[in-house]
Amino acid sequence: MNILVTGGAGFIGTHTLIELYAAGHTAVVVDNLSNSNPVALQRVEEIIGVSKIPFYQVDIRDREGLEKVFAEHKLDACIHFAGLKAVGESVEKPWEYYENNIGGTLVLVDVMRKHGCKNIIFSSSATVYGDPAEIPITENCPKGQCTNPYGWTKSMLEQVLMDIQKADPEWNVVLLRYFNPVGAHPSGRIGENPNGIPNNLMPYITQVAVGKRKELGVFGNDYDTPDGTGVRDYIHVVDLAKAHVAALQCFRRETCDVRRETLDLRHKTEDVGSDAKVSSLKSQVYNIGTGHGYSVLDMVNAFIRVNGIDVPYSIKPRRAGDIATCYCNPSKAKNELGWEAKYGIDEMVRDSWNWQRKNPDGYPER
Ligand code: NAD
Ligand code: UD1
Repeated sequence: MNILVTGGAGFIGTHTLIELYAAGHTAVVVDNLSNSNPVALQRVEEIIGVSKIPFYQVDIRDREGLEKVFAEHKLDACIHFAGLKAVGESVEKPWEYYENNIGGTLVLVDVMRKHGCKNIIFSSSATVYGDPAEIPITENCPKGQCTNPYGWTKSMLEQVLMDIQKADPEWNVVLLRYFNPVGAHPSGRIGENPNGIPNNLMPYITQVAVGKRKELGVFGNDYDTPDGTGVRDYIHVVDLAKAHVAALQCFRRETCDVRRETLDLRHKTEDVGSDAKVSSLKSQVYNIGTGHGYSVLDMVNAFIRVNGIDVPYSIKPRRAGDIATCYCNPSKAKNELGWEAKYGIDEMVRDSWNWQRKNPDGYPER
């Protein structure tokens, strides 16, 4: 398939491009470079041995820019990564987050449908579960209250895309709810490149290890968890990238038909209403995690053990909006997509460090 990858120059987008080409697909990248560097795309081309992946420095809110992309390429599906993602910044700038993430997606899907491209994989997040009603979290767990505008953009966009699919059954919508992506491509050529002080745990750990920050603050050690620190479902970004390739099978007619029959049977026996039947047929939701929960201190200790580098830390107060425990049951993705995470905690901390150590200041400026 030829895939439009919005936000393809970013952390998860670049890793996904590699897995798409490895699986025999091709891609066209649209990114406004607001949080990325074109050097990352050059490195992807080196890794996969392709002279040029078509790239458009276009904002997804720019209708004319997107029209040009669709006019110049025959596109079968879109993997939609483009969006702003800094939780703290979203609290300061809610308008900008709603306008970019929701406004941009509305323009994107409008241009897609105009060009008859109605297959989309959307980057959602475990954040839509809020403080989850059950652990491990299955896809049946109800969505919850988000603690910030970033989270609400994910929750609202899930609804927007499901409603669009319901009104026009030609759409195939796949919502992937990522848990906590970490790690980097094993080459160490591409990885996470946060602007300023990292908000997330793993880039903070690697920046302490490389000497850019003095010590890690551990946000709370009085949670109801085995060691008192927050527990999360960390997933290697290469595994996460492969989940997108696996999800593309939802767009193959034969696979969709088989799944539709299976679901029809299931719905008949479970006697659910016809409304639920239609919406569940071609809007699919998957948790993308490993199913294992690791605490902050588990991650720090694994990093020290595997990489042989010290990571000084001190205990700080809890961070507002954090929950104690968040990990998933990923068996739906395994059963329906044949995807499961292969990398463990040791590879996650090894590859995060490999990237940071080889690129202490991230990507060079052009
Ligand atoms: P990233 O910031 O590295 O990549 C996002 C890319 O989108 C960037 O290259 C940015 O320049 C681009 N972009 C932003 N707004 C745009 C616009 N209006 N038009 C065109 N391009 C635009 O982030 P990432 O970590 O690769 O995340 C990818 C997606 O996955 C995002 O939607 C994010 O919210 C979601 N997600 C990420 C995480 C995570 O922890 N990294 C977790 C859950 C969900
Ligand atoms: C956060 C966001 C979530 C987003 C996800 C991926 C919040 C409340 N949630 O999830 O919406 O989808 O990032 O971008 O911000 N920790 C420390 N010290 C640090 C950093 C983190 O102790 O310097 C702890 C946190 O308290 C948490 C764990 O490490 O227990 C993971 O934190 P983080 O990487 O920020 O991810 P989440 O909070 O799960």
